[in-house]
Amino acid sequence: MKKVTIHALRQMKAQGERITMLTAYDATFARLFDEAGVDVLLVGDSVGMVVQGHDSTLPVTVDDIVYHCRAVQRGTRRAHLVGDLPFMSYQASVDEAVKNAGRLVAEGGAESVKLEGGADFTNVVSRIVRAGIPVMGHIGLTPQSVHKMGGYIVQGKDEEKARQLLADALALEAAGAYALVLEGIPTELASEITRRLSIPTIGIGAGVHCDGQVLVCYDLLGFNRDFAPKFVKKYVDGASVIGGAAKQYIDEVRQSAFPGDEHSFHSKALRLYPTPVPEGSTEDDESLSRIYAAPV
Ligand code: KIV
Repeated sequence: MKKVTIHALRQMKAQGERITMLTAYDATFARLFDEAGVDVLLVGDSVGMVVQGHDSTLPVTVDDIVYHCRAVQRGTRRAHLVGDLPFMSYQASVDEAVKNAGRLVAEGGAESVKLEGGADFTNVVSRIVRAGIPVMGHIGLTPQSVHKMGGYIVQGKDEEKARQLLADALALEAAGAYALVLEGIPTELASEITRRLSIPTIGIGAGVHCDGQVLVCYDLLGFNRDFAPKFVKKYVDGASVIGGAAKQYIDEVRQSAFPGDEHSFHSKALRLYPTPVPEGSTEDDESLSRIYAAPV
């Protein structure tokens, strides 16, 4: 098992190998995705919407991202870990940006940070990179600018806006970004940006020609029945699977069908109590002391 580094990601682009990236917010999902072989795990500020229940990413704080990075890091062995710089953690001043990027790395265990914005943010990117922290850029549909965009709307659909986004991408590469998320832009534009950059592009709603793809894990897992944008593929109907499991559990508890004897403990030493020990039950005191043993 070789740890994925930013250099490995660049090499993957050079060799035409697709990069896979998913968001993760806790150790359990991180472990599953890492074991499945994902290359990059992003603790995205999407945590604000899918975990915290906000209707935008704007309320997410640096403390939130640090907390979730720490959890994800505990579940990750191979994947490269990216921490998202949330709204207003890097926009107000370059010093603040460097400090907050440093927190995600020093306290959260992130190996790089991601920030939204184009040419206006090249000074921020280059200062963070000079501090020794790799930066992933993010252009196109940038959710932290939802009010400026007037909603979650596909960007770069006319010639002028497309040219601006291409200029943004080139400026971020020149500033030292090691990769770029392209979100919510036409496939043709994403393809051209990918062709013009030597750093990898990771697409979400940007077509198949990017060097890699990213999805919010709750979207891929189909956890939200009411969220089905065109760019998301639900690989499993998680809402039905999880809702169904919960329903079955509720039914079984109500009917006293759970816990069964196989989920219960007994002691023949408790002879004063009237409940009979079922026929064939295991009487293993040792197992009692090991019920919460950590998995090996
Ligand atoms: O916050 C997030 O999850 C993201 C991805 C959608 C790229 O920024």
